[in-house]
Amino acid sequence: MSENEKIILSVLGNSGVGKTSFIMKFTDNTFQESYLATYGIDFKTKYVNINNNKYRVDLYDTAGQERFRSISINSIRMSDGVILIYDITNESSYENISTWMDNIYDIKGKGFPVIIIGNKCDKEEERQVPKKKGEELAKRYKITFFETSNKIGTNIEETVLKIINQIIENNIRDTDNSIKLRRNRAKDKNSCC
Ligand code: GTP
Ligand code: MG
Repeated sequence: MSENEKIILSVLGNSGVGKTSFIMKFTDNTFQESYLATYGIDFKTKYVNINNNKYRVDLYDTAGQERFRSISINSIRMSDGVILIYDITNESSYENISTWMDNIYDIKGKGFPVIIIGNKCDKEEERQVPKKKGEELAKRYKITFFETSNKIGTNIEETVLKIINQIIENNIRDTDNSIKLRRNRAKDKNSCC
């Protein structure tokens, strides 16, 4: 991956879990209590520096409402990684994570960079999903898990930096593998002719 490369992240999850709020907190460091559901799809950009390289990060803000599901799922095709969100105060948003994971792996295959986050961890008194359940779920898929709060800013940057690092590592591994593959092909050629 070269300098100034664009990284596309899709932010997915049920309606109201905090996808738009997550993106606003990460890109503008702002938070709003009022709720306006996302219609269709939106996106915001932020530049980040990692290991002295500058990356343009485009975050697709998808709609959680069922009627926009095909647009949201379509965004997976264009993305390099997914941030998948449930709301710790809403059990059904947690239960839906496995359906989202099925959609992601159907399109991108296992091993595609995904991070699961349990959002609204500032609302401890309304919690319906124990942290342990989030950790167990992520362990089942062998992926990273964070609990976050867009309101107080817990683990927002950490989540994005973690997934970008995974994408970069994957990319290096893929490049390595294709170089090795090319080398092996060249060797095969040499040995037969
Ligand atoms: P859709 O666009 O309908 O898919 O929803 P969304 O996932 O984009 O949710 P959104 O970011 O609009 O947030 C829904 C509501 O939850 C808003 O009222 C936010 O203020 C609130 N909210 C989001 N994140 C947090 C959080 O970390 N803590 C608290 N207390 N409220 C949050
Ligand atoms: Mg939204």
